[in-house]
Amino acid sequence: MLDLTGKKALVTGIANNRSIAWGIAQQLHQAGAELAITYLPDDRGRQEKKVRSLVEPLQPTLIEPCNVQDEAQTRSLFETLQEKWGNFDILIHCLAFAGKDELSGDFSHASREGYLRALEISSYSLVQMAGLAKPLLNEGGSLLTMTYLGGVRVVPNYNVMGIAKAALEMNVRYLAAEFGPAQVRVNAVSAGPIRTLASSAVGGILDMIHHVEQTAPLRRTVTQTEVGNTAAFLCSDLASGITGQVVYVDAGYEIMGM
Ligand SMILES: NC(=O)c1ccc[n+]([C@@H]2O[C@H](COP(=O)([O-])OP(=O)(O)OC[C@H]3O[C@@H](n4cnc5c(N)ncnc54)[C@H](O)[C@@H]3O)[C@@H](O)[C@H]2O)c1
Repeated sequence: MLDLTGKKALVTGIANNRSIAWGIAQQLHQAGAELAITYLPDDRGRQEKKVRSLVEPLQPTLIEPCNVQDEAQTRSLFETLQEKWGNFDILIHCLAFAGKDELSGDFSHASREGYLRALEISSYSLVQMAGLAKPLLNEGGSLLTMTYLGGVRVVPNYNVMGIAKAALEMNVRYLAAEFGPAQVRVNAVSAGPIRTLASSAVGGILDMIHHVEQTAPLRRTVTQTEVGNTAAFLCSDLASGITGQVVYVDAGYEIMGM
């Protein structure tokens, strides 16, 4: 059965109790994994406070700040992990960002700054973290990221984030090829639309969810727990033959032509 006892997992991207990363952290914990959690720091320490109290029941070994745009802070996270854990097994990359201006209206109006920032935070950060994690990952380890259908098809308003997800999915394949010989797997989950802080910035997110509820084979969208279950499976030895894949957890929406 799904058992992550003895595995150490770094989970990024928890902002609040709606975060997909929160769903994943809970399922990893339930399967027995020991957790390290990151939060995006702000000047007043509000995120730290919120995330600390949310994750307390999961008794994480570490709760560390990590803004992926801050190279020194990201490096320091992995140095701290090395000091505390030596090696570890699982890296959950569950973060993305694009400005509101970039998530509605015409795609061609994307600014250079907004485009590059979305790609940096939402796509490059996986490469950055994978490189820092590489010397620390145990054989049988796993990297997992979160993507969306807007990275392979045009979804209204998703715009630059679609480009970031396309790059992210290709990152997964290149990283899987590089990390495979060390028996480390790299996969992505492509989730159906879920109401979260990040998704509420996408113009018309409620319409998207409504459309999926009417069209997907299961006639609904998915929950953070369902995504968390698949994430836990992909990071477990049950998925030892799976790498370089994008697994859809979207109530089947992706197969529909009309
Ligand atoms: N919600 C959906 O419908 C949906 C669907 C498919 C994929 N996803 C993906 O799931 C992932 C998690 O998003 P979510 O929907 O749970 O929203 P969320 O807002 O809860 O999570 C996004 C996280 O990104 C973090 N983040 C933003 N900028 C950062 C930075 N510079 N450094 C470090 N962290 C930063 C935020 O702090 C937050 O924790 C994202 O990659 C998102 O694109 C979401």
